[in-house]
Amino acid sequence: MRVLVFVLSVMMLFSVIAPAQALDYGEIKLPPPQTDGGMPLMRALKQRQSQREFSTKELSLQTLSDLLWAAAGVNRPDTGGRTAPTAMDRQEIDIYVAVKDGLFLYDAKAHALLPVLPVDIRAVTGDQAFVKDAPVNLIFVADHRKMEGMTGEQKDFYAATDTGYISENVYLFCASAGLSTVVRGWINKLTLTKAMKLRPSQTIILAQTVGYPHN
Ligand SMILES: Cc1cc2nc3c(=O)[nH]c(=O)nc-3n(C[C@H](O)[C@H](O)[C@H](O)COP(=O)(O)O)c2cc1C
Repeated sequence: MRVLVFVLSVMMLFSVIAPAQALDYGEIKLPPPQTDGGMPLMRALKQRQSQREFSTKELSLQTLSDLLWAAAGVNRPDTGGRTAPTAMDRQEIDIYVAVKDGLFLYDAKAHALLPVLPVDIRAVTGDQAFVKDAPVNLIFVADHRKMEGMTGEQKDFYAATDTGYISENVYLFCASAGLSTVVRGWINKLTLTKAMKLRPSQTIILAQTVGYPHN
């Protein structure tokens, strides 16, 4: 019994002090999200805010998993429903993840990161100095192929509103997890579109920086 307690204590200690690992470029299966615990919703709402100073400390794979699931993960596997609503359930907003090790696309169904580019594009994800050093920049991209049958005005309106829900999920998760975040529209979209090698049917809506508070 004492040995078991000792082993469990060491494991718990290691999970607290274990450094966040760098992401190897390639397809990354994310660990299942931790969907219990976290801060009570009303307290997270009380703490939600934009912050613009970030430590360079990387997020663990578990924290990245939780963050992306909170943002727009599948919360009803039977229907494919997501944590953020989308107009007509088109699920047209893709979340790209720019980290030091490259650019990835969040595949919500597989809860995995798909490799897009083995290049650090963080510096061009926005026109504010902190974006290049913060560990994670999310880029919300509308896929117009999933919005067929809508007018141009509807596409713009729904892509913007649907991104807003995802962004707020990120804000609340960050408040709960002790992370800093800020959603950003101040982006050179032409430069970023080129850097991401997006298709003509894809439009950048907003970006959001996530990381630990600067100490
Ligand atoms: C659509 C949108 C775009 C924004 N763009 C930027 C931006 O480019 N850079 C930035 O630092 N903050 C940006 N913000 C954050 C706002 O400045 C911030 O939400 C506002 O000052 C209120 O602060 P709070 O979020 O702490 O309540 C944006 C917010 C929204 C909703």
